[in-house]
Formats: sequence, C-alpha cells, structure tokens
Amino acid sequence: MEKANLIDGRAISQQIHSETKERVEALKQRGVQPGLVFVRVGEDPASKVYVGMKEKRSAEAGIHSTTKVLAETTTQEELLKLIHELNANPDVHGILVQAPLPGPISEQVIFSTVSPSKDVDGFHPENVGKLMLGDTTGFRPCTPAGVHELLIRSKVKTSGSQVVVLGRGNIVGKPMTAILCQKSDHANATVSLCHSRTKNIAEHCRAADIIIAAMGVPLFVKEDMVSEGATIIDVGVNRISDENAPKGYRLVGDVDFEKIQPKAGLITPNPGGVGPMTIAMLLQNTVLAAEKQTS
Ligand code: GUN
Repeated sequence: MEKANLIDGRAISQQIHSETKERVEALKQRGVQPGLVFVRVGEDPASKVYVGMKEKRSAEAGIHSTTKVLAETTTQEELLKLIHELNANPDVHGILVQAPLPGPISEQVIFSTVSPSKDVDGFHPENVGKLMLGDTTGFRPCTPAGVHELLIRSKVKTSGSQVVVLGRGNIVGKPMTAILCQKSDHANATVSLCHSRTKNIAEHCRAADIIIAAMGVPLFVKEDMVSEGATIIDVGVNRISDENAPKGYRLVGDVDFEKIQPKAGLITPNPGGVGPMTIAMLLQNTVLAAEKQTS
C-alpha cells in the first residue's frame, strides 16, 4: 500500500527558488546583477554533473554564473591567485570551489582563502565558527541548511526531539549537528553525532525521532534500526555497480527506502529529497551575499 509520507524536496526547493527569484528581481531593480563563480579543478565526473546542475539553476533564478575550469595539474598557488582575484572583483558576489580538489591542494587552505562575505558554501572558518556560536550573520553550508528547511517546511518538531546524525563530515554531519542543537526556534534538539566508531549505532537510531543519514554507506539504515513514526532524511548519494544499468552503475542513498517507508512517519525520497535543496540553498546564499555586499 502506498503511504503518503514523502517529504517532497522538489516541491519545497521550487518554493525557495521562487522566493530567490523575487529577491533577484528586487536587486536588479536597483541595478545589481547577482554574480556567482564556480571553480572546478580537474575532471571529476560527479563534480562536472553537480556544477552543470548548479549553473542551470542559477540561470533559471536570474543569477549570472561563470565556471572557471582549471587543469588537474593546477598548483595550490595558481588556485589561490584565482581566488584572490575573485575576492577583489565587485561583480562576483559568491564563490564556490567544488570539492573534491586534486590531492596536492589543501581544501582547508582554499576554503579559508575565499572571502567570508562571498563564501556561499559556508566552509570558511569564520562562517563555521558563527554557525557553532549561533550567530546568524554568517553563511550556512547548503546541504545541512537544506535539510533544516525540509524539516521546517514539513512541520517536523525538532524542539526536545532526539536526532541522530549519521556521518561526521565537515560538509554535512558536523554543521547539521551545530544547526539543530542551537537554542533557537526550529532547533533545540538533542543531537547524537554517530560515525564509524560509534558503538551500538542501531540502538542510537532506534531511539531517534529524526535520523539524518549522511555517512556515504549504501543502504546503511535498515528497517530494524528505525522506530515506528520516525522522520528519515537521506542525504546519501552512492554509486554502486549494476551491470543492468545503462552506465554500469546506479545511485543509491544511505537508507533502505523501500523497507523503511511503511514504518516511517515522514521520509525523503532519493532522488527528489535532499538533492534539489542543496542547490536551492546555494542560490539563496548567493542572493543574500549580493544583498549584503550592495546594501
Ligand atoms: N562537493 C560535495 N558537496 C559539495 C558542496 O556542498 N560544496 C562544494 N563546494 N563542493 C561539494
């Protein structure tokens, strides 16, 4: 039996796109064209797809985007030089350096060099620190901010709720924890950040009102790890080989959706859940950056 418990990330991201478009229009009315620059180093196939999608959505929102593609052999110094130029360019309001970067380049050094005021990824230590402190004047990383919007717009109660975040990465797990533990509206949760060394991870999950899976392990969350009525958010995008698929692989999330959907209170489909929200939040951050830089 079909259960009507899906969190429709496509529909919610469309609402956010509409709000962003209105703000872009308001900026254009006062002569400001929001500008976003993507920097891609090397030919990582997933990064090409992601940046391509971000370009397309930017154009739809009326944001002018440019992509700088650098060779795999680019040195850290060359990349730093480009970032300094973009930091100084008043037509560029947002800068996104797509991760992963080739081995010899330090992501930490690069993310720390993007001007905090143009850091629409929310990866600069100043923005990370503000997020931790509950200072809302910084930029929040797009994927956890998107998950937060999904919870808010689906009216999922976080205050007093037990949340389990699976995965301690800097892009999703850690900032997700920081967002939901704040003493503020739509937060106030008790958050457990579980990872590969956590003991009894299934027990943690069974005690959770909300599970946010971002560990990058295909179909990690199984039916017996989920309590009846829990909210399940699947951030995972994993390639698994499948000789019957046209490309020889298919994409699966971190959650065994088919088995868990009947048991869940609310659940994100994958694709069509968290994915579209990441780009929606990136464009929202870009418009915010343009507003702040020109007010
Ligand atoms: N690679 C995977 N996710 C992201 C993201 O949110 N931002 C950037 N810059 N790179 C990524």
